[in-house]
Amino acid sequence: MRILSGIQPSGESHMGNFFGAMRQHVELQERGQGIYFLADYHSMTSVRDAEERRHLVIELALDYLACGLDPARSVLYRQSDLPETTELAWLLTTVTPMGLLLRAHSYKDKVDQGIQPDHGLFAYPVLMAADILQYNSDLVPVGQDQKQHLEMTRDIAVKFNQAYEREVFQLPEPHILKAVAVVPGTDGRKMSKSYGNLLRMFWPEKKLRKAIMAIVTDSTPVEEPKDTDQTLFQLWSLFADPDEQAEMSARAAAGGLGYGDVKKDLYERVLSYFGPYRERRSELAKRPDDVEDILRAGAGRARELAMPVFEAARSAAGVGPLG
Ligand code: ADP
Ligand code: TRP
Repeated sequence: MRILSGIQPSGESHMGNFFGAMRQHVELQERGQGIYFLADYHSMTSVRDAEERRHLVIELALDYLACGLDPARSVLYRQSDLPETTELAWLLTTVTPMGLLLRAHSYKDKVDQGIQPDHGLFAYPVLMAADILQYNSDLVPVGQDQKQHLEMTRDIAVKFNQAYEREVFQLPEPHILKAVAVVPGTDGRKMSKSYGNLLRMFWPEKKLRKAIMAIVTDSTPVEEPKDTDQTLFQLWSLFADPDEQAEMSARAAAGGLGYGDVKKDLYERVLSYFGPYRERRSELAKRPDDVEDILRAGAGRARELAMPVFEAARSAAGVGPLG
């Protein structure tokens, strides 16, 4: 089974990304041939600084490798190291109905936010379809927000197969990542790069501690019972087993529990949970050439996996050299 997912290099990854996506991507490696790529072409629809893009791609590669993405088992590559994908996107775009793209929620949302759309933003789902269809991917793990893009991929595959009367593309199945309760940020809203309320697992200890100590809480005095349905406890629970959670609820209900102590405990738990990942990341960061080698080797392997589909698509469409 081929499991494919793209990850946008859009900024520092955080604990929301970890529990909502990264950890599940890493777990899925066990179930088949994992193919993961850093979607730098897609990031061109939002990031317009070349240096920044290169930097974000490497940072994200380090994050994934540190969190257990195993390059010996899975393919990890930079999307732009396989430029054939953009050729396939053209073959697909010629059969993609305008109406299909006009119905895309993410496009409509961006336009509603006042973003002046360009063709890249409009065509984003077609490039995504090429990413997926080039491997005849079976399973595509994505967040709920990407589900419509997956449905569009299926529609585009059908259009191409019908237009050229050949079963060139196989229809992929979406695998919607478990909506583990949305991880809250330090201010109580959903943890997100856009809100500046992050906890990043790879921050230096001091910065991490400071951010954890700043998590918002209500103003219940120490001696009184505490409501555990608030950000601090939700975050703490991510690092505690059910028995510990039950014990914490009992302590909170009894009164006498200080938020400061819970924060200190959370900090210790975060360090111990992410300790091995933090270590691996700092080791890897000292060897940028090795990371580059991993990405290049990944692209080589990705090309091998995609070649039969590229050839079938070109041949069906009657473009490229006669093979
Ligand atoms: P951000 O909101 O910080 O820009 P992204 O949109 O890049 O995050 O998210 C990438 C992936 O991480 C998505 O699959 C999304 O579902 C998951 N994710 C992001 N933030 C959270 C969160 N706070 N809780 C759970 N999952 C999250
Ligand atoms: N659009 C996806 C996101 O923002 C990233 C992505 C690009 C992707 N190509 C993909 C995800 C192919 C799955 C498959 O999260």
